[in-house]
Amino acid sequence: MRNISEREEELPDAVIGRLLKIANEDKSVVSLGAGEPNFSLPKPLLSHIKYITKNAEKLRLNHYSNPLGRLDLREAISKKLKKDNKIETDPENIIVSCGSQEALFVGLMCVADITEQVLVPNPSYLGYIPAIELVGASPVSVSLKEEENWEFNPDRIRENIDKKKTKAIIINTPANPTGTVLSKKILEEIADIAVENDLYIFSDEAYEKLIYDSKHISIGSLNGMQDYVLTLQTFSKSYAMCGFRLGYAAGPRKLIEAMEKSMHYVTLTAPVVSQLLGIKALSLPNQYIEKMRKEYDKRRKFIVKRLNELNLPTIEPHGAFYSFSNIKNFSNNSMKFASSLLKNGKVAVVPGTEFGIMGEGYVRCSYAADYDKIVEAMNRLEKFLKKYGK
Ligand SMILES: Cc1ncc(COP(=O)(O)O)c(C=O)c1O
Repeated sequence: MRNISEREEELPDAVIGRLLKIANEDKSVVSLGAGEPNFSLPKPLLSHIKYITKNAEKLRLNHYSNPLGRLDLREAISKKLKKDNKIETDPENIIVSCGSQEALFVGLMCVADITEQVLVPNPSYLGYIPAIELVGASPVSVSLKEEENWEFNPDRIRENIDKKKTKAIIINTPANPTGTVLSKKILEEIADIAVENDLYIFSDEAYEKLIYDSKHISIGSLNGMQDYVLTLQTFSKSYAMCGFRLGYAAGPRKLIEAMEKSMHYVTLTAPVVSQLLGIKALSLPNQYIEKMRKEYDKRRKFIVKRLNELNLPTIEPHGAFYSFSNIKNFSNNSMKFASSLLKNGKVAVVPGTEFGIMGEGYVRCSYAADYDKIVEAMNRLEKFLKKYGK
């Protein structure tokens, strides 16, 4: 029997996929597992799809675009970055990708060689470590701690730097799974560390628009950081466009040029139909995002209050659409806890270990689910906890 590559064999089998499959198949389960908006596309985008399909020939939908992405889209992104993120960048320093995940992957390919290292927060988005490993580099965890509000501790970043091997650090604000929004002070410290050690910063800002009682700051907007930061953003969460696979990265010319070259061998170009939709999305008034953000905020307040009442201490998340709860009053094993909750309580949550070893003893609930479903899930969780472990 011919083998699958060792690289692939060693990739972790994401538990989240299995959980979501069970949750989808078993209609009696209430799922707080998903990491994607449960909103429909904003109406003007729905109408625009009709326009695009009607004019498919004229719009040359069946042709490849420039590997950097269409110029009109990159111009719109450049304006958006200036206005919303205070990042001054030309369209040629922007590359459009199939979701920000692809830009992250291609960016890592261009930055880290085999034997080199990339720092990753732990816990963090489950896509980072496998992506680093797939490009042949080594992930090095920087632990985040609940007692430090899941913030980066700059001393811990420094401790994990190997002067010869460390090439980059990934940061994520607002963060999945903790909802932490990095403060300007911490971002400035991270920026100083990157400059001192000549590191690239990959700044994953997928949830930049979903922010509550806080402010999103792009590290790429800080003085002198243009040469160090690859800013990764996406249409997936802000516009409920996950399925259109549209994201982008903005960064130093040298890195974007390298990514453009690699892009030829990965997807060639993000789908033209999605790029056209992206241009329309960026022209929309803020009200469409704001409507979703307000609804998430309502759910957030409810779920965090309920989880704390249920003796599952949960730090208030200031961004994204996740709560990250401490389950240690009931169990020290997130996987067992989540599996039992799924089987016996009929609620799907994600075990914290999916996000790294520092996630042991925690579970993530997504509040990108209908309010009523969240209410029902919390009621079921309450019942489940009364019996759990007895
Ligand atoms: C923190 C974070 N970054 C990136 C992604 C991937 O997003 P995209 O759809 O843009 O590839 C996700 C998806 O859940 C995420 O949570």
